[in-house]
Amino acid sequence: MPDRITTSKLEAMKTAGEKFVMVTAYDATFARLVSDAGAECILVGDSLGMVLQGHDTTVPVSLDAMVYHTESVARARPTSMIVSDLPFMTYSSPDVALTASMELMQKGAQMVKLEGGTWLSETIHQLVQRGIPVCAHLGLTPQSVNVFGGYRVMGRTPKEAKSILADAVEIQDAGASILLLECVPEKLAADISSKLDIPVIGIGAGAGTDAQVLVLHDLLGLTEKPARFVENFMTGADSIQDALAAFVKAVKDGSYPQEQHTCLL
Ligand code: KIV
Repeated sequence: MPDRITTSKLEAMKTAGEKFVMVTAYDATFARLVSDAGAECILVGDSLGMVLQGHDTTVPVSLDAMVYHTESVARARPTSMIVSDLPFMTYSSPDVALTASMELMQKGAQMVKLEGGTWLSETIHQLVQRGIPVCAHLGLTPQSVNVFGGYRVMGRTPKEAKSILADAVEIQDAGASILLLECVPEKLAADISSKLDIPVIGIGAGAGTDAQVLVLHDLLGLTEKPARFVENFMTGADSIQDALAAFVKAVKDGSYPQEQHTCLL
């Protein structure tokens, strides 16, 4: 059985210029399939609120739901690293974040993900100090959809781009192990990836990041109105296993994402 993926392995892959892959999974069966396909990371994403629970946004997702799905994924004993989302309002202060992260880590997460930049520095610092690795999510942060007034590309104006870059540097300095960038222009994502030492995972952020992530249901063609950056990997595949393997291969050989997959400017 291959060794479990660690943060040092992901850092080494960045240094070697080898792309890595993250896919969401919310249960034991899909966690096993994603791991067997060779994805380095499984994200137990709060996207489960939309794809499993039928909500319009990720805002209603509870910590109990994230704990339940993290436990289910962990029971598959995947080789992939398990990253679990801290849901809406469970990291509004460092203390709240510590309590919520403790639950996720004790149920099998190896890292927690939270959405936001500079304002989270102290929280990230405290989590890392206490043994909890952190992935920070910048750009289009879905838990803030009600502030943004909808899902849109972030970092289009020079002011927004500068602020996302500053946030990225700050969260790295605070101790985050990974940055995830969603729906930002390709050039900005590539620029941030080359400036940071920590690995950068992109979604709708072009080909210049160190890794790619997609929501499982999107890449399996199960989403009613997929975003522009999604490719249906079931097309031409004989099975779910084939589709997952095709996604992993496409990221690693650089054939995904293409220009048509980037968010529109
Ligand atoms: O919750 C999730 O699945 C995510 C991805 C969209 C990156 O955050």
